[in-house]
Amino acid sequence: MRDYHPPKNLLSGRTILVTGAGDGIGRAAALAYAAHGATLILLGRTLAKLEAVYDTIEESGGAQPAIYPLNLEGATDHDYFELSKVLETEFGSLEGILHNAAQLALLSRIDDYDVETWYKVMQVNLNGPFMLTQACLPLLRKADDASIIFTADCVGRKAKAYWGAYAVSKFGVEGLMQVLAEETRDSSNIRVNSLDPGPTRTQLRSLAYPGENPESLKIPEKAMSLYLWLMGPDSAGYTAQAFDTNEK
Ligand SMILES: NC(=O)c1ccc[n+]([C@@H]2O[C@H](COP(=O)([O-])OP(=O)(O)OC[C@H]3O[C@@H](n4cnc5c(N)ncnc54)[C@H](OP(=O)(O)O)[C@@H]3O)[C@@H](O)[C@H]2O)c1
Repeated sequence: MRDYHPPKNLLSGRTILVTGAGDGIGRAAALAYAAHGATLILLGRTLAKLEAVYDTIEESGGAQPAIYPLNLEGATDHDYFELSKVLETEFGSLEGILHNAAQLALLSRIDDYDVETWYKVMQVNLNGPFMLTQACLPLLRKADDASIIFTADCVGRKAKAYWGAYAVSKFGVEGLMQVLAEETRDSSNIRVNSLDPGPTRTQLRSLAYPGENPESLKIPEKAMSLYLWLMGPDSAGYTAQAFDTNEK
């Protein structure tokens, strides 16, 4: 998929929600989707970062995005229901969700893993995506073609010591993806897949590997081919699959 060259209008007419859209891979995906014609809902924790992405999209002539500040750590099912109501009023349908926001929090062996941190990581990385998906399913069902992408990680496909709640939450994300994909298989207009971006130069990566030279890693923009393909109509028919971008 590295050689995928999508047309400029790949996503035109589509409304796409990206979580963690203010930084790292989520920011790059939001900009790539907007550059290919989508109307973006920029969801995230830090308003200033979301505003900067908003400005970049406007300056480059993209469709006017919407900003939705939300901290997944404290968000409840009520908050996600409110969000879906706003989206219904403003947009009518939803053609895609990129579940991207996540926290690493800490690396620790299970013996010592702080219980409060465990709950927090599960809330942001797994429970939030579940509640957001549940709230948005009626809107996704109204779309002619909709794609749900859960962001995966190799440590959530094959375990690694010390990755604690982060790894377990990513295993959970794969499970959520598979269950939902089976439940939507017959509805034909909704695709559900997971995508591991591979080692990428972001804050999360530098927290996990503080001694690593960031220059040795690809920048988020270099991972976007697969993000575009999976969000757009060219991946129609693919569901329940675990994709990855192997390059550094
Ligand atoms: N980078 C890699 O090498 C790599 C490898 C495999 C998988 N991934 C996955 O890729 C995705 C993106 O990670 P990244 O590397 O781009 O990390 P990042 O640069 O740290 O970005 C994470 C994004 O998630 C947001 N976020 C974190 N906690 C949040 C919360 N409580 N509520 C709302 N938003 C929250 C952050 O918002 P703020 O900016 O406000 O903090 C930020 O925009 C994650 O799912 C990660 O697991 C990354």
